[in-house]
Amino acid sequence: MAKNSTKEKIKVSGNGTTIDGALKFNSGWDYSPAPESTGHIEIKEKYELFINGKFQKPVKGKYFPTHNPANEKKLSMIAEASVSDVDKAVKAARTAYNKVWSKIGLKERGKYIYRIARAMQEKAREFAVIETLDGGKAIRESRDIDIPLAAAHFFYYAGWADKLQYAFPGKDPQSLGVAGQIIPWNFPLLMAAWKIAPALAAGNTVIIKSAESTPLTLLKLAEVIQESGLPEGVVNIISGAGETGAAIVNHPDINKIAFTGSTGVGKIIQKAIAGTDKKVTLELGGKAANIIMDDAPIDQAVEGIINGIYFNQGHVCCAGSRLFVQEDVADLVIRKLKDRMETLIVGDPMDKNTDIGAINSKEQLNTINKYIKIGKSEGAGFYQSSCELPSKGYWCRPTLFLNVSQSHRISKEEIFGPVLAVQTFRTVEEVIEKANNTPYGLSAGVWTDKGAKIFNITSKLRAGVIWANTYNKFDPSSPFGGYKESGFGREGGLQGLGPYLNLK
Ligand code: NAI
Ligand code: MG
Repeated sequence: MAKNSTKEKIKVSGNGTTIDGALKFNSGWDYSPAPESTGHIEIKEKYELFINGKFQKPVKGKYFPTHNPANEKKLSMIAEASVSDVDKAVKAARTAYNKVWSKIGLKERGKYIYRIARAMQEKAREFAVIETLDGGKAIRESRDIDIPLAAAHFFYYAGWADKLQYAFPGKDPQSLGVAGQIIPWNFPLLMAAWKIAPALAAGNTVIIKSAESTPLTLLKLAEVIQESGLPEGVVNIISGAGETGAAIVNHPDINKIAFTGSTGVGKIIQKAIAGTDKKVTLELGGKAANIIMDDAPIDQAVEGIINGIYFNQGHVCCAGSRLFVQEDVADLVIRKLKDRMETLIVGDPMDKNTDIGAINSKEQLNTINKYIKIGKSEGAGFYQSSCELPSKGYWCRPTLFLNVSQSHRISKEEIFGPVLAVQTFRTVEEVIEKANNTPYGLSAGVWTDKGAKIFNITSKLRAGVIWANTYNKFDPSSPFGGYKESGFGREGGLQGLGPYLNLK
């Protein structure tokens, strides 16, 4: 099997020997590189802000670079929105709300949202390649998950635009006005779709800010929106870092803030809007428990563990970053897990064979490495796959910490990287207590053969989303969101539409 998929072909020369209990694969053959092409995309040297249907220069004339984390090369210069630009965008959104979007026929509203969904599908290959170049995620994921799901959310909410009354029977759903939205770097286009589509279907106008390391797919979306003929000012797309985000949060003429990102910034936002009548939804961090019972289908569970923590380099708020394995199958699960980790291909995100792409930024890599150091110093058993890493760019091998205890920082704090903390348990009661012993409550997974056990365990876990015998499955009609320090409010489904409406 392949060990790596950098541009050069790397031969694996092991002979079935065991590295710390893991089988080193002796393939004698390798996957040939299968790079996705870039001939069909255009990345401009410089991007402006998309305000009132036009690309506009930032008032202060400031720009910042965005890089490809897989090779550290600059991709483009991006306009940084200041307080004045945010104000311009909010004014455009307010005017569009008052004059057009709150008055337009509901079928018309739906028509535009469908149009954006179809354009996203038509340009899916462009979106996928740009997402991968800008953020470092494997092309297979941006192609098969991020982009199709983003389009699916637009399709799903387009369908509700003229059926709001039926969505909330007995209520009189009314739009809120202007929605200010702030998204992170881990799923840029998908997070934008989760926020823009329900806001528009509910009759609101939007100002949305991308994350500073991954602005490009939202700028591509701005082009799509411009081409769709959506009335100007209905969606305004801006870029910038924390200060720009704060300018959105603090703008007095915004009715609703939707934020996805770190718990730290979520707390700042909550303080900032306290005492105002802004509505808010916060989707914050997580430290999900993935629970393997001894009657689980072990091979599927191992795939679920891999998918849960190594998917998107572990840059996933619902990542199954705490693994709980019932004691009598622990050795078997860990052995199979190590074997499977050895087969994961880490490297060029543009290669279609790659499983694990680049870490999104140098800062994030530093954070992950800091936690790996902490885990080692806390005395947990350390294991990493033996793959080679490219010399340029930001990379992290799939990592395991074994014999972790509840007090270890690596089992309590969000790492946001491909690092799994493994604990064992004996009884259902014990694992529920351990799994719930966290300030977070976003997601969890349970693997068992028994339906009754699934119902018992899932009803006692304090997590917003719980998967049974699967992991990281998403659908536009299912709500997503957390408890406790993972935030509040839901995205997806009707539960994701409600927060964009006054429901009297
Ligand atoms: P962050 O929370 O700082 O950034 C998320 C978004 O908020 C970005 O668009 C950023 O520009 C904006 N922002 C930053 N400060 C702001 C402020 N004061 N007011 C308004 N907006 C502000 O997250 P960051 O630095 O990118 O990642 C740090 C950690 O956050 C990660 O290690 C991870 O633990 C967590 N995170 C969680 C995510 C999730 O999906 N729940 C996504 C991204 C990060
Ligand atoms: Mg970038």
